[in-house]
Amino acid sequence: MNLLLKAILFITLCLGTDPSWPEVESIDQEPIIGDGAAARPNIVFILTDDQDLHMQSLDYMPFVRKHLINHGTFFRKHFCTTALCCPSRVTLWTGKAAHNTNVTNVNPPYGGYPKFVSQGLNDKYLPVWLQEAGYNTYYTGKLFNAHSVDNYDSPHAAGWTGSDFLLDPFTYWYMNSTYQRNHEPPVSYEGQHSVDVLTKKALGLLDEAHKANKPFFLGVAPVSPHANLWSPAFKHGNHSKLTEIKFEPPVPAKRHAHLFQGTKVPRTENFNPDKPSGASWIRKLPKQSQENVDYNDHFYLQRLRTLQSVDELVDRLVHRLADLGILKNTYIIYSTDNGYHIGHHRMQPAKQCSFEEDINIPLIIRGPGVPKRYTTDIVTTHTDLAPTLLKMVGAAPRNDFDGLAIPLTRHGLWHARKQRHEHVTVEHWGFASNEGQVFDWYPRLHMNNTYKAVRVISESYNLHYQVWCNNERELYDLTTDPGQMVNLLHPDEHAPTSEVLLGGVPRERLVQRLDALLFVLKSCKAETCIRPWEALHPAGNVESLREALSPRFDAFYERETGKIRFERCEMGYLLEAEGPQFEKGERIDPGWHEWT
Ligand SMILES: *[C@@H]1O[C@H](CO)[C@@H](O)[C@H](O)[C@H]1NC(C)=O
Ligand SMILES: *[C@@H]1O[C@H](CO)[C@@H](O)[C@H](O)[C@H]1NC(C)=O
Ligand SMILES: *[C@@H]1O[C@H](CO)[C@@H](O)[C@H](O)[C@H]1NC(C)=O
Ligand SMILES: *[C@@H]1O[C@H](CO)[C@@H](O)[C@H](O)[C@H]1NC(C)=O
Repeated sequence: MNLLLKAILFITLCLGTDPSWPEVESIDQEPIIGDGAAARPNIVFILTDDQDLHMQSLDYMPFVRKHLINHGTFFRKHFCTTALCCPSRVTLWTGKAAHNTNVTNVNPPYGGYPKFVSQGLNDKYLPVWLQEAGYNTYYTGKLFNAHSVDNYDSPHAAGWTGSDFLLDPFTYWYMNSTYQRNHEPPVSYEGQHSVDVLTKKALGLLDEAHKANKPFFLGVAPVSPHANLWSPAFKHGNHSKLTEIKFEPPVPAKRHAHLFQGTKVPRTENFNPDKPSGASWIRKLPKQSQENVDYNDHFYLQRLRTLQSVDELVDRLVHRLADLGILKNTYIIYSTDNGYHIGHHRMQPAKQCSFEEDINIPLIIRGPGVPKRYTTDIVTTHTDLAPTLLKMVGAAPRNDFDGLAIPLTRHGLWHARKQRHEHVTVEHWGFASNEGQVFDWYPRLHMNNTYKAVRVISESYNLHYQVWCNNERELYDLTTDPGQMVNLLHPDEHAPTSEVLLGGVPRERLVQRLDALLFVLKSCKAETCIRPWEALHPAGNVESLREALSPRFDAFYERETGKIRFERCEMGYLLEAEGPQFEKGERIDPGWHEWT
């Protein structure tokens, strides 16, 4: 039976006429071009900086749509697990949650490139493993924060066959960026747009990779659409111990500077709302003035404009891959480090929160065997990407990953709907920054932005539960409240209607189960991060929230499971501040109630 027939038969048998799956227009059946049948696939990974999914940025990227969305699978429920560049990137390249890398911030002592190195991760991350698997590895753009003109060679980032890194403190200076190639000294690109510089470098590395005649990985990490960041001191050659740093809207290339005039942040129900929302410092924010909203709309518009350079970069890369004859045998992955909010819940432009705007981010994958024009709602996170890439190259999986390889075939995606886990662990430590305007009621930094959260998403529910370091709690039912405007655990919102949730579950029972789940997840390692219910119910009789909600477990959850409680707010992952810890083997469901 030929492949096309098989595929059609498979779709008919397995997918049936399930209405939740979009129409499929075509299936990638073309033969793989390469060095014979056994050619191993190449990987090109495009990683933007702070790109949103919820403010519709992808709608303004026609080449991403044409080359990636229309030729690949769009993962609509993809999440970062820490909504901040450096911790998120370290999680992405190591396959480990931030509480297991302990790279939890952008700068030392809790984060940044020096912390990545001192945690021993410089030889325990993806490029090193890809080289071990016989791949050449290339990278250009931003790797981590605090990877700077002062420390790039002490030591060099390991694992790269060829590299051309954007370096701090000039990473976010769109019109005068600094790149550093292989072991050469840094070079500044005054007057050139950072993404245009990056595009040339990426195409150059692609040619280099092709000439080497080995399978390759190429990481391309543009600064867009991150805020523009610079200091007046830079002009005087001063780039350390800076006293003044300027945050500005991102700067587009000249040719894009006049596009989309009048486009504003989408006015969702949580955009600068009339009533306060959220918890902790967020709930205390006043409504933004019109002047503030206008500034933020401009900030948003400039983001869309800088993304045009990324869109062109995608077009150039795809064309070059096609010209080299290797497009069919190359996976192209498009994602970002974390999402972004502008005006949501009255907040200034930034990230670092756990609202959907900050954590639910773009992930698109095209490549050999990946369904085309396909959208899936299986739950995936940044911890899953390193395992996925090792699988793509045929390397053995590692047993210390906190994530699970993402299925990339129609068959695998279909099975994952029922079998894949339904939770996302979200964590953050330290401050929340403000990349927009500074007011006395809205400073550059909000401290005590330390929290743990869990998202649970399945066909029957869509929940967000969070515990802050001051022990405030939040619960949102996103099925009825997609804007996360009603905190069901806030005294002001204790409407009688919120006593019973999900069409019949007492709120208390739901919170108990979510708290127990998050209690396991907040310090989980490897398998426990993937299958947390098994840690509570080793008999294997509970695999989902729905099963855990059964009243027969009430006594167990009331008595045995820990309650999340912080001792205090800290800037980093200090165990003594984090309250009781889950110990594997303790507090487990003995299973006796099964027979009573
Ligand atoms: C551009 O950046 C370099 C440092 O990399 C600095 O020496 C130079 O003065 C900057 N140019 C301008 C116009 O600020
Ligand atoms: C320049 O660097 C010095 C320390 O080397 C610092 O004291 C000074 O404040 C810096 N100037 C600015 C404007 O940041
Ligand atoms: C932040 O948390 C610390 C320690 O828990 C507390 O002492 C301080 O008052 C908090 N600050 C604010 C602004 O809430
Ligand atoms: C994480 O790193 C910080 C800073 O080095 C350290 O103080 C802390 O103890 C570490 N946390 C854990 C759990 O190892």
